[in-house]
Amino acid sequence: MVLHTRICDMLGIRHPILLAGMGRASTPELAAAVSNAGGLGVLGAASCGPHQLRDWIRRTRALTDKPFGVDTLLPASVRRGGSNAGGPTTEALLPQHRAFARDFLEREGLAWPDAAELERQLGRDPADRGGPAPLSREFFEAQMEVVIEERVPVYAAGLGNPGPWMERLHANGTTVLAVVGTTRHARQVVQSGVDIIVAQGHDGGGHNAPVGAMALIPQVVDAVAGQVPVLGAGGIGGGRGLAAALMLGAEGAWIGTAFLATAEAGISDPQKQALVEGNDEGTTISRAVTGKPARMVRNRWAAAYAEAGLEPLPMPHQGLVSSPVTAAALAAGRADVWGGFAGQGLGMIHALRPAAAVLQEIAAGAERELQRAGRLLRD
Ligand SMILES: Cc1cc2nc3c(=O)[nH]c(=O)nc-3n(C[C@H](O)[C@H](O)[C@H](O)COP(=O)(O)O)c2cc1C
Repeated sequence: MVLHTRICDMLGIRHPILLAGMGRASTPELAAAVSNAGGLGVLGAASCGPHQLRDWIRRTRALTDKPFGVDTLLPASVRRGGSNAGGPTTEALLPQHRAFARDFLEREGLAWPDAAELERQLGRDPADRGGPAPLSREFFEAQMEVVIEERVPVYAAGLGNPGPWMERLHANGTTVLAVVGTTRHARQVVQSGVDIIVAQGHDGGGHNAPVGAMALIPQVVDAVAGQVPVLGAGGIGGGRGLAAALMLGAEGAWIGTAFLATAEAGISDPQKQALVEGNDEGTTISRAVTGKPARMVRNRWAAAYAEAGLEPLPMPHQGLVSSPVTAAALAAGRADVWGGFAGQGLGMIHALRPAAAVLQEIAAGAERELQRAGRLLRD
């Protein structure tokens, strides 16, 4: 017996398992590997400039003839413009935070990267130089034009509401997902016409909201009942997690961290090693990297911010502060300074493996668990 849900039919996939769009980590190679193995690979394109995004989409198409998706961010706060009403402007606070970053790097014995090193470590394509500033409103909008022009099979909004683009996306036949962390946000994006909701709990890696997956998934399922299917996300690291998400009413899973310690993931070897060595207590939540609360491997940069009692700047300005630090840490192989985003499922990772093996194990494990659950019933 095989596990099959409405998601499989909607997306044209064999297993109801999606590779979460993880910025830079969900590369064309990783997305294609997941799609080729019967799941749906989603590119983590949040920080790709428009030229690089087009290149990633075309590379993915060269690596798989199966459906795949693109994930970008559409944060409402950035699209509305600056927010620090009443307080000092973010621009005025920037020098203080940049000085803090310089002192931090000096204390860690790391060099402040020059512009070329910064671009290289952050994986930016030189062809995007001169384009909109990363993570600005113009940047997000330019990405959407590429998503629409390239007619991708699936689009996922990792933050925010894709409402303004729905008509053009649907006219292309693109299936649209939105990642939410509250029932309120779920209702909003359903009103905008999204096709599938991803309910991501607090346990998940990257940007997230305060409600844990176990409580969030059934509440989101109920909030959008009968309208659109829901995928569970956050802490799903194996077959037991997928089966549990199905029991909570989800029709599949959106999985990030479990696919990070794979040959195809676009993170550094020291970062992969840190994942293998990490355990259930190995993550923390901080705004020190993007300006929004995000779950990440415990690291010295987030700890330094917390110790200093400094309030990080809002997105996108905090990225200007943190990017020299994350780039310097990556160049030096210092996963203790910046290990990357990861979820609480970290402790379930024990080795580096091919992405296809991770996917097959989750699918087979969920089928086993569902059969076991059926045997718990008595007449
Ligand atoms: C390394 C990493 C990077 C991420 N980057 C993004 C991103 O760029 N856009 C996004 O929508 N979500 C991002 N996320 C969140 C994932 O899409 C997903 O919701 C999360 O990984 C699910 O929880 P899990 O990690 O416990 O499986 C990221 C997560 C990780 C671990």
